[in-house]
Amino acid sequence: MPHDVSWDEYNAHQWGREPRRSLAMALDAAERPSDRDPVAIDLGCGEGVEVTALLADGWVVHAVDGEDAALDRLVARTETPVAERLHAVRADFTAPPDLPAADLVHSSYALPYCPPAAFDALWAAVRGALRPGGVLSCQLFGPHDDAFGDPEMTFHSADQVRDLLAGLEIVHWAEEDGEGGSYTGPRHWHVFHVVARRPV
Ligand SMILES: C[S@@+](CC[C@H](N)C(=O)[O-])C[C@H]1O[C@@H](n2cnc3c(N)ncnc32)[C@H](O)[C@@H]1O
Repeated sequence: MPHDVSWDEYNAHQWGREPRRSLAMALDAAERPSDRDPVAIDLGCGEGVEVTALLADGWVVHAVDGEDAALDRLVARTETPVAERLHAVRADFTAPPDLPAADLVHSSYALPYCPPAAFDALWAAVRGALRPGGVLSCQLFGPHDDAFGDPEMTFHSADQVRDLLAGLEIVHWAEEDGEGGSYTGPRHWHVFHVVARRPV
């Protein structure tokens, strides 16, 4: 994201789009407990398109983002009684909150915006939140990405992503390395799209 575009501007523009495919893949892979509501975390949820889809699907959702404005809009548009299952948490990736035990952790196009010095702790929090059988769906960025070199962002090689996923069952793996569009115009994307499950 170029620094002349704010997260608030980007996030506000997201409302109205379809939920990301990474969420559909996560929902396909996730198992719902039979004795309680399923619990999801959306880390870097932005405007909350995926959060709203999860709420509509009956999930308890912990929606985490660093931007107050997007979270405020999400809370304002979520009506009772669905709102009782929404927990909006303002937190920076550099000081992640205690994450609840979750059946699903979704994080679309957000984890790379954690600075390198804080990434290991954030990733440990993500891994620690996954219940046995829980599913993680996220994107990580590789070294061919246009944003590579931004000191506030974290990038990984394919081998490094596999290391991050060690001990998880890889349900879906796709490496995107090519030209595409973005909110700010044409962009070269180098993205690892992963869905993984913690073994039971
Ligand atoms: C590219 S947007 C993705 C939003 C949403 N998940 C989506 O798929 O549209 C990245 C999100 O990460 C959040 N973010 C960026 N840096 C952050 C940080 N250091 N701490 C917390 N959230 C951050 C931004 O506010 C933004 O909502």
